[in-house]
Amino acid sequence: MTAGATLEPLDPVRYMSNRSSGKMGYALARAARMRGAKVTLVSGPTALKPPRDVALSRVKTAEEMRRTVLADCGLYDVIIKAAAVLDWRPKETSEHKIKKGRGVQTLELVENPDILAELGCMQGNSRCLLVGFAAETQDLIANAKEKLKKKNLDLIVVNDVSREDTGFEADTNAVKIVYRDGHMEDLPLMPKQEVADQLLDRIKTLWEKSS
Ligand code: CTP
Repeated sequence: MTAGATLEPLDPVRYMSNRSSGKMGYALARAARMRGAKVTLVSGPTALKPPRDVALSRVKTAEEMRRTVLADCGLYDVIIKAAAVLDWRPKETSEHKIKKGRGVQTLELVENPDILAELGCMQGNSRCLLVGFAAETQDLIANAKEKLKKKNLDLIVVNDVSREDTGFEADTNAVKIVYRDGHMEDLPLMPKQEVADQLLDRIKTLWEKSS
């Protein structure tokens, strides 16, 4: 399970990140553990209390998350990538604090690796189930379908992050689920912990079908 935002340092005092709180990923980790699964949680920085009896790896940057996830990815039956990974990082990180007074700075960015797409490429004959999340603000289904195909996923969970009750910091979510075979489901608004349970029910069914 991956959860939370990644961050990319600009200098020793500043960083780029996003608004992901990690609540959905932590709820999934907790729900999976309560069902008896052996759970590894790879988490970006968050103030959330980690679920009990979960192997927790704390990471900061996208590259650290990539290394941690890829190191053991062959061991997992299911990989759920709920983390909101930063798509870019600064081309250079300053060793010392960048001082003002030198005019407005322009930040040059380079693209981060897409961890989920890499996992998707490695699927081959693997029986590992690959689940992605899509954080969208418009054209939810079309964007999710494109991500599912491009990243070779079994299932993608879409949420509208522009809404207050389904966004990053909310305790509730209303997700749509898109499956590889094209069929879709619309779950109503509910607490994230309940969303996690509903998702695990679907993932379990898929897992049983595929094994
Ligand atoms: N993801 C990833 N590595 C990245 C970016 C995203 O592993 N560098 C994963 C996320 O964990 C999520 C899925 O890909 O499961 C979709 O992430 P999202 O941020 O919705 O979309 P992007 O692929 O980054 O595309 P865009 O930002 O253009 O919507």
